[in-house]
Amino acid sequence: MSKEETFDENIILKVDDLHTYFFTEDGVVKAVDGVTFDVQRGEVLGLVGESGSGKSVTAMSILRLIPQPPGKIISGDVLWKGKSILEVPESGMRSIRGNQIAVVFQDPLTSLNPVLTIEDQINEAIMLHQQVTKDEATEKTRTLLDLVGIPDAGKRLKDYPWQFSGGMRQRVMIALALSCNPDLLIADEPTTALDVTIQAQVLDLMRDLKNRFQTSIILITHDIGVIAEMCDRVAVMYAGNIVEIGDVVTIFKEPKHPYTKALLKSIPDANARRDDELYSIPGTIPNLINPPTGCRFHPRCSEAMPECSEIIPDTIELVPGHFVKCLLFTNQIKKK
Ligand SMILES: Nc1ncnc2c1ncn2[C@@H]1O[C@H](COP(=O)(O)OP(=O)(O)OP(=O)(O)O)[C@@H](O)[C@H]1O
Ligand SMILES: [Mg+2]
Repeated sequence: MSKEETFDENIILKVDDLHTYFFTEDGVVKAVDGVTFDVQRGEVLGLVGESGSGKSVTAMSILRLIPQPPGKIISGDVLWKGKSILEVPESGMRSIRGNQIAVVFQDPLTSLNPVLTIEDQINEAIMLHQQVTKDEATEKTRTLLDLVGIPDAGKRLKDYPWQFSGGMRQRVMIALALSCNPDLLIADEPTTALDVTIQAQVLDLMRDLKNRFQTSIILITHDIGVIAEMCDRVAVMYAGNIVEIGDVVTIFKEPKHPYTKALLKSIPDANARRDDELYSIPGTIPNLINPPTGCRFHPRCSEAMPECSEIIPDTIELVPGHFVKCLLFTNQIKKK
């Protein structure tokens, strides 16, 4: 059966054994090395992992925005509504990016055009994809700014990006992302640059949008605390692999992968004393040109067995929907 015949209406995005490498002077960076997950309609999927684990490269691969060279999607597939995006011509891809999949990055100043007013840039996005007059576009822009909680939206239309605070700028970015009524919003560290109170407000806004419009969201963060508040499911990434994936309650209550457990230990505990030292995972994320053999986490793993440096664990489904890539849960050792 072909992939399209097995297409499930509820699965809006399917990332299938994706490999994205960078060919650099120092060697081949295996940034994303066999990543598989899907996103259902209306769900928030969290992608979490330390810096350098391949979260942004995964997102950029989905959008087909990997700079080539040095990067390249080597193998695997990304199915958007059942169709491979790897086969879509660039013009079609531009239309998917503008119309169906929107993205919000950490620093909106780099994504907003500094010489255009907010009205002009959101209008431009609307008019590019929708048959509306300039006045209708402006009205839609004002409504969107209202929706994302920008006070006095009507008056702020003529302002430039730098005239907004960090939190307000991130709201403008979200308004811009929503201007095309996307089916999927990819938010890559959307609140990392913001202070804690503003961070909470922006997350509330995203949750509200998901509830109102059934927008699917991929929320990328290195902060597993944010995942708990926002996500339905979570995929934990380490050194270019997904090591565990499941629904948020299961992952938080019964994490299985030693890396997930370590990440959870590093969340600040509300009851902890202020001078308690926060746990941090020993060691650093490996160089992805020469990653460790076997399980990539084994050099840092407190539960590593001798075999872990030799065997790359299969990903197995422990209970429906809960997958883990760790030798502790497979019978690969016995088989050997
Ligand atoms: N243009 C590039 N050229 C070479 N290597 C790259 C390039 N872009 C990313 N990489 C490498 O790919 C790996 C994964 O990077 P990625 O940006 O996806 O990490 P991340 O999980 O998003 O980290 P962070 O939390 O810091 O954003 C890293 O080793 C990074 O150095
Ligand atoms: Mg990143």
